[in-house]
Amino acid sequence: MAIDRTNFTYRGRLVHLVHTRQFVRPLLEDMFDVADAARRLNTSRPGATYLKESLVGRRALLYFVQPSTRTFLSFQAAASLLGMSTAEVRSREISSEMKGESPLDSLRTFAMYHDLIIIRYPEPGFSEQCAGFFVDHDLRRHVINGGSGKDDHPTQALLDMYTLHREFYSRGGVDGKRILLVGDLARGRAVRSLVHLLTRYEGVRIDLVSPPQLRLADDLMEVSRKTFEDVRESEEIEDFLADADAVYMTRVQSEYEPHIEVSESAIESYGLTEDRVAMMKADSVIMHPLPRRNEIPITLDRDPRSRYWEQV
Ligand code: CP
Repeated sequence: MAIDRTNFTYRGRLVHLVHTRQFVRPLLEDMFDVADAARRLNTSRPGATYLKESLVGRRALLYFVQPSTRTFLSFQAAASLLGMSTAEVRSREISSEMKGESPLDSLRTFAMYHDLIIIRYPEPGFSEQCAGFFVDHDLRRHVINGGSGKDDHPTQALLDMYTLHREFYSRGGVDGKRILLVGDLARGRAVRSLVHLLTRYEGVRIDLVSPPQLRLADDLMEVSRKTFEDVRESEEIEDFLADADAVYMTRVQSEYEPHIEVSESAIESYGLTEDRVAMMKADSVIMHPLPRRNEIPITLDRDPRSRYWEQV
């Protein structure tokens, strides 16, 4: 099977989903149509039965060796809706990796029992390495990256993009919108993956707010400056709030590089408050990949612009 190794496709279809650079606009739009159809089907018993029969007999492994709540549960729920059975490995400590087995040998073992391996992993690049390993060994299984190190979180970014797509559907779509990205832009893997998806839209402008030590990485800044109509940066969220069509908040990712200290006052300079939200347009939206820390107070959950629970 001649799989294109650069984007893991076979005859134009995705075989492995490892990063968002694999997605072109028509593929994104097809996926959103499928998601809309699945949501509609799931509202009726015959529709839910149809969905439930679509992947009967297929088996998925959730190999989640980095903490996760919503990604893990969302894949488990999705597998259940589609009739797939699931198994899980949630810690290296209880797998044969503790006896010295290499991660790739573990993966090969997983492939003996499962059709699909969904991976949450602390180090960057592992899902891509696994996908390459399957291609090289002609193992006809599939890999989905559910978050890898600081580098990619494509399934979260697809949810984010789907939320934006739905939100702006009746307002000219995502094209031409101004998106404000806030918080830990250096280590937020969902931000990295989302920026690549946003490059697939026309006339998008992005504004960036972060403490100086958590600025968007140089490589992503280069992609952004080449692609987007306008890229503005600040440490103060007030500078851009009034212009934003969507405000995408993120938490400080202190599980990486704990030596990088971010002061409470730095977080306060970009965190949302009732006063700051009052500066936003009435039809803008507030998003967050979650989990949150203190960058969005719980009182804002009631604000009609808050979309982060729907985003989940
Ligand atoms: N957004 C996200 O990936 O959440 P979890 O880490 O809880 O899966």
